[in-house]
Amino acid sequence: MMKKKLLSLALAAMMTLSLAACGGGATSTPAASSTPVASSGAAASTGVKVGVSMPTQSLQRWNQDGSNMEAELKAAGYEVDLQYAGDNDIPTQVNQLENMITGGCKVLVVAAIDGGSLTEVLKTAKDANIPVISYDRLIMNSDAVSYYATFDNYKVGQFQGNYIKDALDLDNQAGPFNIELVTGAPDDNNVNFFFGGAMDVLQPYIDSGKLVVPSGQTSKAQCATPNWSTEESQKRMENLITSNGYGPSATKLDAVLCSNDSTANGVTNALLGAGYTADNMPIVTGQDCDKPSVKNMLAGTQSMSIFKDTRTLASQVVEMVDCILQGKEVPVNDTKTYDNGTGVIPSFLCDPVICTQDNYKELLIDSGYYAEADLA
Ligand code: GAL
Repeated sequence: MMKKKLLSLALAAMMTLSLAACGGGATSTPAASSTPVASSGAAASTGVKVGVSMPTQSLQRWNQDGSNMEAELKAAGYEVDLQYAGDNDIPTQVNQLENMITGGCKVLVVAAIDGGSLTEVLKTAKDANIPVISYDRLIMNSDAVSYYATFDNYKVGQFQGNYIKDALDLDNQAGPFNIELVTGAPDDNNVNFFFGGAMDVLQPYIDSGKLVVPSGQTSKAQCATPNWSTEESQKRMENLITSNGYGPSATKLDAVLCSNDSTANGVTNALLGAGYTADNMPIVTGQDCDKPSVKNMLAGTQSMSIFKDTRTLASQVVEMVDCILQGKEVPVNDTKTYDNGTGVIPSFLCDPVICTQDNYKELLIDSGYYAEADLA
């Protein structure tokens, strides 16, 4: 315990040091970051082009990620080539990356659709000495990836699992409770951490029989949702409802673990369609604090979400870009967890926070992430 504490203190000290070492100032709040990066940062960035490749515009968060990155990079003096790969279209993402490489980008920031499909195109980046930052999702099987910036994905899964554990009071109630499990795209490495983190909490209760998964679908493959699609998760939940006879006055369903908001929305739609209301809704978890999900939380049809402030991640990545281009030490706080098949990628993990009806005001409104009117 003591050892762990010392380790984390040492880590914190290291972080502060490495931040000081680079000191671009880009970790400041979004309002402040509209000022160009101070010191040598401004000079190093002038006219330098950075490629930002995002997976889709069909989910709110990636639009925010893209526009935050673009705004912060521009404010720091960079030119930005921001591309969205259609609606999760892998060949489009590969093409866009090729164009960024030939088009003179000096650093690539990439949120991969399929973590395993960029190996070839990123060889070209490596040959051209263009460093690659893996954004939010780890790019697998490529030694071209220099750094990874994300949220603590395992913690996200643990938060979701623990939320269900606490809400059902699994340690004190007799149960058994019925649960179904929904996770995201099987080709997104984050799923291993979200689903794995949640199952590390829930599995012991499944093993003891206090939690029952009536469908029997407990593997990642069985619980996956292609492209994190709301329609797909709705279809699967509708099938689960039919085949297990769930309903407000039929077989009881106590909880649905959902790895993010887009899948939670599909599940909530299916449950509402089966006659559930805010008064008898099973516990439904989520992640991202997308507007539709926050509205569902306020209406009582989704229990929680995870707030991952995309402004923080964007600031962190701009800081990484600055440090790389200035040849300075890049701030990282995890050098153990994320092995992409070619070795561990030095990572910076931002902190996710649980969001519920009780704290959404403070997290989302007071911080300026949303206006109250966005959630009306
Ligand atoms: C994950 C990401 C989540 C969620 C999901 C669907 O990789 O970490 O925040 O947005 O993709 O896009």
